[in-house]
Amino acid sequence: MSRTIAHVVGARPNFMKAAPVVDALAALGAEQVLIHTGQHYDEKMSDIFFRDLGIPEPDVNLGVGSGSHATQTAALMTGLETTILERSPAVLVVYGDINSTLAAALVCSKLGVPLVHVEAGLRSFDMTMPEEINRRVTDVLTDLLLVTSPEAYAHLANEGCAVDQIRFVGNPMIDTLLRTRDRFDGAPVRAANGLPDRIAVSTLHRPANVDDPAVAQQIIDALRQVAKTIDVVVPLHPRGRQRLADLGLVSGDGLHIIDPLGYVEFLSLVADADLVITDSGGVQEETTILDVPCLTVRPNTERPITISHGTNRLVTPAELAEVAEAVLGGRVSFPAERPPLWDGRAGERCATAIVELVDDLVSRG
Ligand code: UD1
Ligand code: UDP
Repeated sequence: MSRTIAHVVGARPNFMKAAPVVDALAALGAEQVLIHTGQHYDEKMSDIFFRDLGIPEPDVNLGVGSGSHATQTAALMTGLETTILERSPAVLVVYGDINSTLAAALVCSKLGVPLVHVEAGLRSFDMTMPEEINRRVTDVLTDLLLVTSPEAYAHLANEGCAVDQIRFVGNPMIDTLLRTRDRFDGAPVRAANGLPDRIAVSTLHRPANVDDPAVAQQIIDALRQVAKTIDVVVPLHPRGRQRLADLGLVSGDGLHIIDPLGYVEFLSLVADADLVITDSGGVQEETTILDVPCLTVRPNTERPITISHGTNRLVTPAELAEVAEAVLGGRVSFPAERPPLWDGRAGERCATAIVELVDDLVSRG
């Protein structure tokens, strides 16, 4: 029987989660195949992370690209089915909550290939988010649920998952941050982008924020207001870029709209920032470890531990400017206790659990 461990990655936040797992499995001598779906394909949304993080070149790139949810998911499933049949892996590992994760889970379950989900059990309980649908469907189809946060146990148990399929491994995205941290150097990145020493960093890409012109306008107005107090740099995700520009998200008066940055450059800016304003999942976690105040422009988060153990706080677009002023004025304090097992060893724990699963499958024939 095959002992090959296949990984499916597709979009920016997958790469920093997969890197330490792939590394730790390589250290154990595992046979691996890396499948990139091509959901993200711009150099600055994909290739740059493979170089920055030393991830091996993908063995396969399906080149699926963009489309509506149905078009993209169908193309992902078709491409993945062919590749999985060709490669016959023992298990397949998926990451996070993107459409590539969901498509791989559906294909594996139909082909009878055991599935491992890294970052299982996170829930926003907001079914208007495409990611929440992806998380729920993926987890119900998963054989080994690797969780980053203790509350995931209850979420998964409530949905009928067996507790003996769950392992609390910690957060591999934080492994990547801790390993890369000594390469963070804000000054040259600020200089290259014409930024002063004191900055706020903002990222925006959630459909609820950037696809709805009324909400986007409120957020842009708030960022313009914050930029009167501190320069705000926005490395802008490609989603809705032109629409946001038309609504006034353009450089000037302390606002700096730039292309997405590579991992080391981006976190070099964040690590030194006075404030982060975001709707990203991963950035909520990274600011928790970097101890940088984070305002998340969302009504909910699937990562509540970044609020109870970190620097994160949820804000509405309407209150964003006022809360940002309060944080910059030092009038808001945050608990800063590192979440359990966000210790740089999650990749190793994932690898151990995955190899145990493969051993078990091989011994059962
Ligand atoms: C996807 C994930 C989201 C994740 C985000 C991380 C889903 C449903 N959403 O959202 O969970 O937080 O990635 O960044 O899987 N585009 C480019 N170049 C690229 C990629 C995308 O220009 O390399 C543009 C295209 O116009 C595309 C749009 O961005 O239509 C959206 O891309 P898509 O991958 O569908 O979703 P994201 O919004 O990036
Ligand atoms: N990130 C990056 N460059 C940027 C913006 C974000 O390297 O210009 C990194 C960020 O540090 C984190 C990841 O991208 O590791 C988060 O991805 P994203 O916000 O696209 O997705 P989400 O986490 O919301 O799913």
